[in-house]
Amino acid sequence: MTRERYLTAKQAREFYNRMGRRQDWQRFYEGRAIDALLQHGGFAQATAVFELGCGTGALAEELLSHHLPPQATYTAVDISPVMVSLTRRRLRPFGERVRVFESDGTFDFSRYAERCDRFVAVYVLDLLSPEAIQQVLDQAHAMLDRQGKLCLVTLSEGCTPLSRAVIRLWRGARRISPLLVGGCRPLRLAPCLSPERWRIDVDQTLSAAAVPSEIVVASPTDEAGA
Ligand SMILES: C[S@@+](CC[C@H](N)C(=O)[O-])C[C@H]1O[C@@H](n2cnc3c(N)ncnc32)[C@H](O)[C@@H]1O
Repeated sequence: MTRERYLTAKQAREFYNRMGRRQDWQRFYEGRAIDALLQHGGFAQATAVFELGCGTGALAEELLSHHLPPQATYTAVDISPVMVSLTRRRLRPFGERVRVFESDGTFDFSRYAERCDRFVAVYVLDLLSPEAIQQVLDQAHAMLDRQGKLCLVTLSEGCTPLSRAVIRLWRGARRISPLLVGGCRPLRLAPCLSPERWRIDVDQTLSAAAVPSEIVVASPTDEAGA
């Protein structure tokens, strides 16, 4: 059995620096899953959003323009300085409600935000090793208020004959080099969430343009938060 390979922080930074604005071209398959997240994430009640891997800031702009209350704040980190500068530029109209940081690729987010009530990661966990995913989830658990929500979307396993065929091709390409698919792999999110720490409110898999995505909205169990 071949060992799964993951992008290093340096590879991820270089890849997404090169990708830049073209990341938004992925909307043809990401859009439906993001709409589902917006529908289920309870953003109208949010006060402080934290996003890991904000990319070009497209989701942030949508959230701040149409979904969040006017006082809600938005904080994000991304490993790519190009993505950070695209997001900062895009979100300039929202002034001091927004803070965007370049990260070193590690997962201690306490230096950027002490707490949040929405922790968002959209097509990011599917780049990370299982150990890194658990570190992110531990951090999210520590940062989220008791009424907060974990809001995740990833590439997932096929859920239709066509999307299963696409995922077979995706895996083939990734075996040649993870860089061919931006480091992303199909991931089942729900099993990553320990039932002692998370209550899963929504777990939906859908396919758009034959690419499958999983949407999970989960709440920290009582042991979390203040
Ligand atoms: C597939 S893109 C998704 C971007 C955006 N969330 C979207 O849906 O369009 C993955 C993003 O995660 C960022 N990223 C990858 N590894 C990271 C890490 N360890 N820490 C922070 N950001 C990371 C990349 O720079 C890139 O912007």
